[in-house]
Amino acid sequence: MNEQALSPQDQRKLQAAQAAADYVATRIDNKSIVGVGTGSTTNFFIDALAELASKFDACVASSVASAERLEGHGIRVLDLNAVDEVTVYVDGADEVDKHNNLIKGGGGALTREKIVAASAREFVCIVDESKLVDLLGEFPLPVEVIPMARGLVARALRDMGGIPELRTDFTTDNGNIILDVRGMTVTDPKGLEAAINNLVGVVCCGVFSEQKPQRVYIAGADGVILRD
Ligand code: 5RP
Repeated sequence: MNEQALSPQDQRKLQAAQAAADYVATRIDNKSIVGVGTGSTTNFFIDALAELASKFDACVASSVASAERLEGHGIRVLDLNAVDEVTVYVDGADEVDKHNNLIKGGGGALTREKIVAASAREFVCIVDESKLVDLLGEFPLPVEVIPMARGLVARALRDMGGIPELRTDFTTDNGNIILDVRGMTVTDPKGLEAAINNLVGVVCCGVFSEQKPQRVYIAGADGVILRD
């Protein structure tokens, strides 16, 4: 890929993705299953992973879009239920705080992302430095909801101080809707994740604190740093 032809932000996404691919290369053998997330940063990782295709067994993907991109590179994609363990999971994020708690789901794949992250021995997150925040919550928090519970969950989220908005013209790979919630200042990521996940009708919320990454590769003007 001609890196110079990319925007500065895409160059950083590519650099973070390449750093993760270099790390993944040290963690895999021919029995390994690599978990793959969703989004533009992860797309760079998928392209880098294609270079390693002979060194692992197969992938599991957190979205139909990522599965199709992997298969386009000739990489075998398995159903998660067909594997015992995911060796390493690599994915992007919408926000990362200094403790590696995340907000994810800008692409709407948060539930499958959390499932694959929970199945993995190790979660590696890849971001450009624009995703770093002191406190999670400026990015509207995605919440995947069973369609018939839209009103019920929206009222509960308003009671929690949020301003939910239906993501229009969007259905998740699981057939559900997304409410994007503004105004949630996330001072207690673990507590908020549990409280939202506990609302009847919620499938999953985009706070990743229980399933936070062990390693975050952050690409900025001075190169890539690892936060672990
Ligand atoms: C998709 C996600 C993505 O990881 C997140 O939105 C970041 O995407 P990008 O790499 O395109 O900025 O959570 O559901």
